[in-house]
Amino acid sequence: MANAPDVHICEAGPRDGLQNLDIFIPTEAKRALIDAIVAAGVREIDAGSFVPPKVVPQFADVEIVMAHALTHKDATIGALVPNFKGAERAIAAGVDAIYFVISVSETHNQANVRRTIEEQLEGFRAVRAAIDARPAGNRPHLMGGISTAFGCSMEGRIGEGSVRRLAAAYAEAGADEIGLADTVGYATPPLIKQIVQGVRRDLGPAMSLRLHLHDTLGMGLANAVAGLEAGIRRFDAAVSGLGGCPFAPGARGNIVTEDLVFMLEEMGLSTGIGLDRLMATRAILSAHIPARHLTGHLHEAGIPKA
Ligand code: COA
Ligand code: ZN
Repeated sequence: MANAPDVHICEAGPRDGLQNLDIFIPTEAKRALIDAIVAAGVREIDAGSFVPPKVVPQFADVEIVMAHALTHKDATIGALVPNFKGAERAIAAGVDAIYFVISVSETHNQANVRRTIEEQLEGFRAVRAAIDARPAGNRPHLMGGISTAFGCSMEGRIGEGSVRRLAAAYAEAGADEIGLADTVGYATPPLIKQIVQGVRRDLGPAMSLRLHLHDTLGMGLANAVAGLEAGIRRFDAAVSGLGGCPFAPGARGNIVTEDLVFMLEEMGLSTGIGLDRLMATRAILSAHIPARHLTGHLHEAGIPKA
């Protein structure tokens, strides 16, 4: 693709960032946030979750938000999906990408989606089949998301072998991409390298891999650099460092998109994202979200100076 940036960033704020807040963000503000993110040059957005509203009330308006997000034809609009029913809703909404979730930790998987890993893989296969039954050219991208890939707040350390087995099972089941998620933010740079390299060896160079990082231990950006060194060029991040899983107590937010963009551009890696416009998303969030939920080193330092 002409002018493709060196690093692709998916903005996960509208989904991961909002799912854990006990405040309902008005639909209009969600739309404004998505518009501002696209205006900043972001080309992929995780824009919401197709989960039952009684499980996550924040996404009771997901159909309305998605319909608006999908008016941005220059961006890939994706959604988190925990089961077949969610995929049916996402496909009906016309999403460009589906992010399916299975945790490597059996305990976290049970807490999060109330299924065993094996049952969840069955669900993934059914989603793959439903997508493949659609006309070519009208099939959403299907990512196999691996939650708790670098540690779990309930099970603690996660074996590299179980991550690699789940990644291989996803690939076998027809995932278009594998997402390695540090759901609770326990990763360290050497662990990132070890797991990324192991999965890469198993799946070969053609499989698209992305990293989803949280900053619980303050190592989020160091982990992103470790991912870059291991060959990763696709990252999730959230504006103002929003984010957290309802079943990952104590976890901090996602790596901060603003800080990640700044660091990558300083490293000479293009992102296609304009930092000033990205920083402007803070005002939309501040109008609805208490300051204690909003982080970001650039925001705190008042950089970049006008
Ligand atoms: N969207 C809307 N409704 C859904 C749904 C979906 N994706 N999945 C299930 N339902 C409905 C069912 O139709 C059923 O409705 P009914 O009671 O009117 O018959 C009801 O919800 C229960 O369905 P069931 O399949 O038994 O779900 P469950 O109660 O076992 O819950 C999940 C399973 C996956 C839906 C739930 O655990 C979940 O949403 N988890 C995701 C949590 C999350 O967002 N985590 C953070 C992101 S990783
Ligand atoms: Zn997350």
